[in-house]
Amino acid sequence: MESSVPTQIPGQNAILIGTDWYPEQWPESRWEEDLRLMEAAHLKVVRIAEFAWSTMEPSEGRYEFGWLDRAIALAAKHHIVSVLGTPTAGPPAWLTQKYPETLRIDENGRRATHGIRAHGSSSSPRYRELCRRIAEQMAIHFGRNPNVVGWQIDNEYGYALMSYDDITRKQFQDWLQAKYKTLENLNTRWTTSYWSQTYDNWAEIPIPGESHNPGLRLDWKRFTTYTWSAYQQNQIDVIRKHADPRQFITGNFMGFFDGFDHYLISEPLTFASWDDYVGTGHVDPIANGLTHDLTRGFKKQNFWVIETQPGAVNWSNINNFQNRGEARAMAWQAIGHGADDVNYWQWRSALNGQEEIHGVLVGPDGTPVPFLEEVSQTAGEFDKAQNAFRGTVPVSEVALLYSYESHWAVQYQKHTEKYDDIALLKSYYGALRPLAQSIDVVSPYAPLDGYKLVVAPNLNVLPKDLADHLLAYVHNGGHLVLGPRSAMKDEFNSLLPQRQPGFLIDALGARVEQYYALEKDFPISGALGSGVATVWAEQLKTNAPDAQVLLKYGKSNGWLDDQAAFVTRPYGKGRITYIGAILDDKLTSAAAQWMAKESGIAPVFGPVPDGVEVSRRVGEGKQVFVLVNYAPEAREVTLPHAMKAVLADRPVENVSLPPYGVEVLLSTK
Ligand code: GLA
Repeated sequence: MESSVPTQIPGQNAILIGTDWYPEQWPESRWEEDLRLMEAAHLKVVRIAEFAWSTMEPSEGRYEFGWLDRAIALAAKHHIVSVLGTPTAGPPAWLTQKYPETLRIDENGRRATHGIRAHGSSSSPRYRELCRRIAEQMAIHFGRNPNVVGWQIDNEYGYALMSYDDITRKQFQDWLQAKYKTLENLNTRWTTSYWSQTYDNWAEIPIPGESHNPGLRLDWKRFTTYTWSAYQQNQIDVIRKHADPRQFITGNFMGFFDGFDHYLISEPLTFASWDDYVGTGHVDPIANGLTHDLTRGFKKQNFWVIETQPGAVNWSNINNFQNRGEARAMAWQAIGHGADDVNYWQWRSALNGQEEIHGVLVGPDGTPVPFLEEVSQTAGEFDKAQNAFRGTVPVSEVALLYSYESHWAVQYQKHTEKYDDIALLKSYYGALRPLAQSIDVVSPYAPLDGYKLVVAPNLNVLPKDLADHLLAYVHNGGHLVLGPRSAMKDEFNSLLPQRQPGFLIDALGARVEQYYALEKDFPISGALGSGVATVWAEQLKTNAPDAQVLLKYGKSNGWLDDQAAFVTRPYGKGRITYIGAILDDKLTSAAAQWMAKESGIAPVFGPVPDGVEVSRRVGEGKQVFVLVNYAPEAREVTLPHAMKAVLADRPVENVSLPPYGVEVLLSTK
């Protein structure tokens, strides 16, 4: 466990609620009233300035930070700390007018125009220079301000949009040259003799579109990650140079958005943040919990929900409002999964602009909307729970592996339009989460010791170094479970010259004979019960006497009839399991129960009724549990032993939770 938790700001509360505030949109005379209302609602943080470039630098080289000094000072007077966003997702008109090469060019060759956002080109040297300048000026000015606790770089990293211009193509070619050294090497790795793709010089290599070579496409994604990392680093460097090390640096990500590899881009950040929006409909606690755990896994530490939905958004199909109590449940769920802050986007609607009718905490008239009441209640509860959460982090015995490279590789060649690797990840998460009550989602390259069970539902790209890493884990006593399509490709997105699961065939004592995209479900049964294989099925064949078959296909397409679908084998001090089919929900759940039993996984809290989610954070000599009831009826929870109910402020042995009900339980046992 981490000795210090970087998101718990020294001298501040352990868990915070805040909002995204845009003082530049309002007369200064109004600010005090905004902040008074925030303070009354127990809000502790504002994120500011991430779209205020034209106000901070109204013309080239003329910096106006006085207004922001005053806004930050006034916030501090109301016991609110500030997080500064660098404004580089919104370059001002004078900039794009004077330096048109800073505007992104889309895949069809069209240059972006001013008046939108994320219109800058992340690969333009000129744009980088201008971004560096504003970030540096901000860091010089605010880097020692005691009321500025940290920085957010850019905003949602321009959705990872790339510029399809000559400069970018040349950078890509140079990047490829640095990676492959010789064209011969590149041609071999990408098998360019196929369709006469052979490259004779680096300048011939195109920026890929959808019909290009899978090796080229995967490298373009890596280059995209590299570009946005460099874009981010350009600003981090100047902030780190001038700012107090106490100030954190984060980036706001978007859950499973797959524009770049989030493990890599998160590396230089103090911690990761994400923007948690439901959009149409209502929170799916499994999907939302999974996404919190994904974000926590970017750096394997606590994170922030730096934006979340204040009732409704403006960009979904139906911008319905969250039910009363739903946002409070979501805020507590975030904390349970390792968030140390939840910020509502946004405080007050701008009177004009693209997001005029997005949800807010304060209406255009400057008075609270009813939703603020719920935020205020939740923030008051956060106040009450500070001590319980100080120094705590989630700790898990089960890890799910999520790899961007494997995700992209499968996306490029889905083989069936129904293949959805994230849905598969979610189905294993949904089945395992209630059994373990805490799951980490991590990169396949993350250290795995300490986990009793590691499940990799989609490790399509599994080169030798990764196989060695996984085998070492199994050898030392871990249980590795692989899903369908595992270990088909190497890091160049080339097929491995073995059958699946590639370098793991010997350890598994079995291999995949043939794979099938399914147009209809096929029966499947065995020691785990019976049901159907859906979407995808692989025919496995064992070649070791101790490789056990736990599920077989029934009568299906002839090829799969009576063939193995699920194989497990002891290996070293541990075990390796391969599940070659996408199983229906009932069988997925049976498989999860088998995995948990086989690996000695028990729920960290103990049994809870259906619809109740338990999460745990662990600190020095204490455990703190967050219970949230997502069922439409009340639920009674019996505790494993007496604990302190932190919100109810009394010792309890049972808790009664209404729909969307929450309790925080502190155990020092
Ligand atoms: C994103 C952005 C915000 C705002 C919200 C609206 O998360 O970061 O600036 O546009 O969406 O939902």
